[in-house]
Amino acid sequence: MMDLKSQINIEKLPRHIAIIMDGNGRWAKQHGKPRVFGHRNGVTAVRETTEAAAELGVEYLTLYAFSTENWNRPKLEVNALMRLLVETLNKEVETLNKNDIRLQAIGDIRKLPERTYQALQQGIERTKDNSRMTLVLALNYSSKWEIMEASRRLAQQVQAGELSPADINEQVFSNALNTSGMPDPELLIRTSGENRISNFLLWQIAYAELYFSPVFWPDFRKEHFYQAIIDFQHRERRFGKISEQLVQ
Ligand code: IPE
Ligand code: IPE
Ligand code: MG
Repeated sequence: MMDLKSQINIEKLPRHIAIIMDGNGRWAKQHGKPRVFGHRNGVTAVRETTEAAAELGVEYLTLYAFSTENWNRPKLEVNALMRLLVETLNKEVETLNKNDIRLQAIGDIRKLPERTYQALQQGIERTKDNSRMTLVLALNYSSKWEIMEASRRLAQQVQAGELSPADINEQVFSNALNTSGMPDPELLIRTSGENRISNFLLWQIAYAELYFSPVFWPDFRKEHFYQAIIDFQHRERRFGKISEQLVQ
């Protein structure tokens, strides 16, 4: 059997892939373990996916790790997740540096617990000169929050006389988002068989290809990631045009 990696056309890689990492809790339940066990095992999938993306030459990989809605989970789980983040960030920064990967974050990160915030800032600072790939963690992130914040920022600029309402266009608006400077994701993957977006990158995925995998996140491996990219590369991205208008 031909291996999956060799079926990928490196010339037509998405520049930016975003992933909604879902299914940790159900995976744990399947194994008769508490939900936190699933989160811990999800770290392996993060490592695998990050490595696979960097090896292929993807420029941006964005991982949805904690939504603003996730604060509504039982306190025990939220606390365990925040601790796991600190632990993982501290442990993995060295590997990121070895692989020339830069860490960034989107979301209302200032409202994370102090220790999580510090670990994140340190990771960002210690990897800031790396250039092979950017790994973006969405933490305390929600798209509606991000869009609201961008609107507020632009309104303030208008009020201060620095910006005219007539000058607000797609580019200006994009630049006011947390993802300013990043290309929009061409491919969005969600694991665990849920078919929804859950408040993730609503503006940025306007024209992304969506790929839903039934695999629970802790089981997600390089091969699953390759499969998503191969699927993406077989799609026709028309952007409103008709098939015949597309060159090649
Ligand atoms: C995704 O897995 C991880 C986070 C949202 C932090 P879940 O914890 O949502 O797992 P399920 O969806 O309950 O199985
Ligand atoms: C979305 O997963 C958020 C993250 C992956 C961090 P959820 O499991 O929280 O989403 P819903 O609640 O099922 O929509
Ligand atoms: Mg879930």
